[in-house]
Amino acid sequence: MLGAHFMAAMLLLLTSLCAVANGFPFRTPLDLDVTPRVTVLSSGLEGYRRFESSAVNYSTMLLEADSERLYVGARGAVFALNASDISASSALTIEWEASTEQKLQCVLKGKDNKTECFNHIRLLQRFNSTHLYMCGTHAYMPLCAYVDEKRFVMSSQPEEGKDKCPYGPTTGFTALIIDQQIYTASRYDFWSFPDIRRNAPSPALKTENAPTRWLNEADFVGSALVRESLGSSDGDDDKIYFFFTEKSQEQSTTYSHSRVARVARICKGDRGGHLTLQKRWTSFLKTRLTCSLPEYDFHFNMLRSVFVMHGLAPQDTLFYGIFGLEWKNVKASAVCRFALSEVQEAFRGPYMESQDPGSTWKEYVGKIPEPRPGTCITGKLRAKGMNVSTSLPDEVLDFVRRHPLMSHQVQPADRRPLLFRRTTDYTHMAATVVQGVDEQMYHVLYMGTDEGWLHKAVDIKGQLHIIEELQLFEEPEPVTNVLLSTERTSVYVSSPSGVVQLPLSNCERYTSCYDCIFSRDPHCGWSGAECVDVVTQSKRSSLIQDIQHGRTGCENTGYDVVQRSRSVRVGDDVLLQCELNSNLATPSWTLNGSEVQGYDLNSGFRTGTDGLLIIEARQDQSGLYTCHAVENDIKVAIVTYNVTISPDLPRPPPGERTGTFIATVPSTEHPSSDGAQSLHLLSPKNMEAMYLSLITVLGGLCVVLTVVLAYVGFCLRADQRGKYSLRAAAAAHPSSKRSSRCRKQHRNSAHMELKTVSSHCNGVCNGVSKLHNGDTQDGGFLQIVPGEAQTLASNDPPPPAPPLPPTPQHTSPECDFPNGLSATLPSVLRRMNGNSYVLLRQSDSENTSPLSHCFSEELNRILEKRKHTQLLPRPDESSV
Ligand SMILES: *[C@@H]1O[C@H](CO)[C@@H](O)[C@H](O)[C@H]1NC(C)=O
Ligand SMILES: *[C@@H]1O[C@H](CO)[C@@H](O)[C@H](O)[C@H]1NC(C)=O
Ligand SMILES: *[C@@H]1O[C@H](CO)[C@@H](O)[C@H](O)[C@H]1NC(C)=O
Ligand SMILES: *[C@@H]1O[C@H](CO)[C@@H](O)[C@H](O)[C@H]1NC(C)=O
Ligand SMILES: *[C@@H]1O[C@H](CO)[C@@H](O)[C@H](O)[C@H]1NC(C)=O
Ligand SMILES: *[C@@H]1O[C@H](CO)[C@@H](O)[C@H](O)[C@H]1NC(C)=O
Ligand SMILES: *[C@@H]1O[C@H](CO)[C@@H](O)[C@H](O)[C@H]1NC(C)=O
Repeated sequence: MLGAHFMAAMLLLLTSLCAVANGFPFRTPLDLDVTPRVTVLSSGLEGYRRFESSAVNYSTMLLEADSERLYVGARGAVFALNASDISASSALTIEWEASTEQKLQCVLKGKDNKTECFNHIRLLQRFNSTHLYMCGTHAYMPLCAYVDEKRFVMSSQPEEGKDKCPYGPTTGFTALIIDQQIYTASRYDFWSFPDIRRNAPSPALKTENAPTRWLNEADFVGSALVRESLGSSDGDDDKIYFFFTEKSQEQSTTYSHSRVARVARICKGDRGGHLTLQKRWTSFLKTRLTCSLPEYDFHFNMLRSVFVMHGLAPQDTLFYGIFGLEWKNVKASAVCRFALSEVQEAFRGPYMESQDPGSTWKEYVGKIPEPRPGTCITGKLRAKGMNVSTSLPDEVLDFVRRHPLMSHQVQPADRRPLLFRRTTDYTHMAATVVQGVDEQMYHVLYMGTDEGWLHKAVDIKGQLHIIEELQLFEEPEPVTNVLLSTERTSVYVSSPSGVVQLPLSNCERYTSCYDCIFSRDPHCGWSGAECVDVVTQSKRSSLIQDIQHGRTGCENTGYDVVQRSRSVRVGDDVLLQCELNSNLATPSWTLNGSEVQGYDLNSGFRTGTDGLLIIEARQDQSGLYTCHAVENDIKVAIVTYNVTISPDLPRPPPGERTGTFIATVPSTEHPSSDGAQSLHLLSPKNMEAMYLSLITVLGGLCVVLTVVLAYVGFCLRADQRGKYSLRAAAAAHPSSKRSSRCRKQHRNSAHMELKTVSSHCNGVCNGVSKLHNGDTQDGGFLQIVPGEAQTLASNDPPPPAPPLPPTPQHTSPECDFPNGLSATLPSVLRRMNGNSYVLLRQSDSENTSPLSHCFSEELNRILEKRKHTQLLPRPDESSV
């Protein structure tokens, strides 16, 4: 089962890696790849409420300030939920599914009866004080209807929705109802051009397609009304901004992208032109939104969603965008923030021009007619008698028709993304502002992923710190919407299977002062006794919080340290567990107060991500071991072990102890004296069963390894770049606090080292190899060192192995791998088998080949995945 699972995952992974290995034109910007500090699986979620029904595909949500209700549109139904508690049974429902007849028609049109031939609610908004307005795809024949809010019923027969609603459930679409006028943007029908429309007041307006097409295969993700008329000195109009990705028209020396992210805007008071641009927008302008890391040549051209953060004044409006890469098979997201003023600036700048349809777009340098094309009707124009767009001169409108695109691009704040993350595709987000104890205002973002997770992040000086990642849906499914309500202190997240309501913060999760301030959550502060929600406290100033650095304030507070003891025999291998709940912390061990050197091969210790291993314990290694979590340069003790190592029977001769498996099989004749849960206590019968299952699991894994490696081999050959080698970095890579967990934990190593320790593999398993760093013999190249295979009792024929130079002083891996690549696999195994333990160190080579890039990418993915796939219970707290 597990094997198959992993095999499928690995194959998928490698397929995509193979696909991108050749085309990956950039170095990965590791230092920006932000690791969420805390990972909470769905089983550990607290304070959440869930709404589920027989309906699926929840996607549209409507929640108004001081409204009691959360409206949710799904497939074939609309719900009115109690916004305080969405799981309450008081939910009201309007069932609205397409008829069987309609569905049949849909199938006859060649549409998919599993997705498209249903009534997906795409629009659900307030129409007036008493009614809502909704539109559904209605099995590829869109319909719209009014909803009587109070009674929560459709107040009339559904009306034609073709010109307001897309036909399909996944077609890009955005809509706004402003003063009972419906603004929509979509590529409505498959055959039609994308369009931005307003249905009223007469005449209905559209975008222009000739001679210049204003929109090119545009995929809309959002829209926003900005009331720029408020407080405007020149009588400016309100504007509506539309966000989308489209095929690029402009040629540029720096970019060669087929699609680009855009913002377009129109004036709310637009009435179209008189002769030119009749029934067309006279104020349409668009420009490019850039979100890139130019130093790495990373350009995020695909705009996935937009969140509009309204400020105190319309001028303070901010647009948050989630961007992705154009490669469909590469997961990566960037979050960029744009200021309205920057967008306005671009619309005041030079225009682009194309002489003939199809020719290159260049910046327009000629004369610009007056009044400036694309601007709204202002007080100045009204004074000149131009009080409606229909009175604009033909010359101006003709210019508008041919020049929809601006030359200047909109750059994000700080000219760089707030966040970049590999391995995650964010789908939707929402943000709010929280005042910290330091009186500063912090932007807090809630971002949903394509796998049903929610990341909560805080913007600290232009960088996002991910406070936590929460698994909201057990089965991976994309988050389809995120809404926030500060009144209800809730975040609402929808997905195909349901809607989840979560508190905006969960400070009780942090049990110590340090944990509370390390979180850097603006919602949370230490009261002296517990981590509390800042918003609910009257005496905010007495709370301890350090959002800026996550370090200071807890110096004089005490905290609990778990105390444990272990008694073992000389020669045993002992695993002292230390689980750090922060992904940003590194473990540090002391013995009788002085640091344990876990990286030195001869020290007899190994430190791993979740424990310390004492290898072949000696009597002089007894003492008090303390595990510290080091985070933000502060060392916090987590657990102490009083380890007593007592002398015992002479150890078996070295020949019987294999070098591959460092662990000793615990003997039942020598039960441990302290009664710690330990394998020593298992009966022989249990052991047998355990061995059997382990053989099965490891045998399966062996097969997985072989298949994967065969695949990798294929990948390598296909790449035609010769043998893979992982070069040892000359010096340890300078580590960054924001580095990925994988890298950070192994930063002290300038080479790769891998060991597998398992008490159960001894003599029965051939599937685990020992990779040993050969840096004395071969100049730092990673190498598999084969050797005394004959010392292992082998039942299974070894899988075919590529020839490797024999180095007799070490034991042999019986599952052989191309150099280096196998190192990734046991790191997966580590958690699969509670009693096998793997130490993995991975250097960050600067000058890696594209393939080793492929490799580190893969490693990162695995480590990332691993966190989400802790399928088995944690290993016993025992000697190995
Ligand atoms: C609707 O939900 C189902 C599963 O619940 C999913 O397979 C399908 O892709 C969803 N369709 C859309 C359009 O989101
Ligand atoms: C909504 O839920 C809250 C909390 O459970 C409850 O107090 C309130 O009465 C409910 N409102 C309605 C309209 O049912
Ligand atoms: C879709 O059509 C196929 C065959 O045309 C049929 O077997 C299947 O049951 C249909 N599915 C649904 C959900 O109607
Ligand atoms: C709101 O719009 C609906 C549908 O057009 C109409 O029946 C209703 O009277 C309107 N309500 C108000 C208060 O204008
Ligand atoms: C526009 O201005 C003209 C004269 O300047 C005036 O007659 C007309 O009523 C105005 N129209 C509107 C809609 O204000
Ligand atoms: C640690 O301290 C204990 C008692 O205080 C002593 O028995 C032990 O030998 C010490 N261990 C080391 C490695 O110094
Ligand atoms: C450790 O345990 C031993 C006996 O198991 C005890 O004598 C010793 O005092 C303990 N040391 C500490 C520091 O608790």
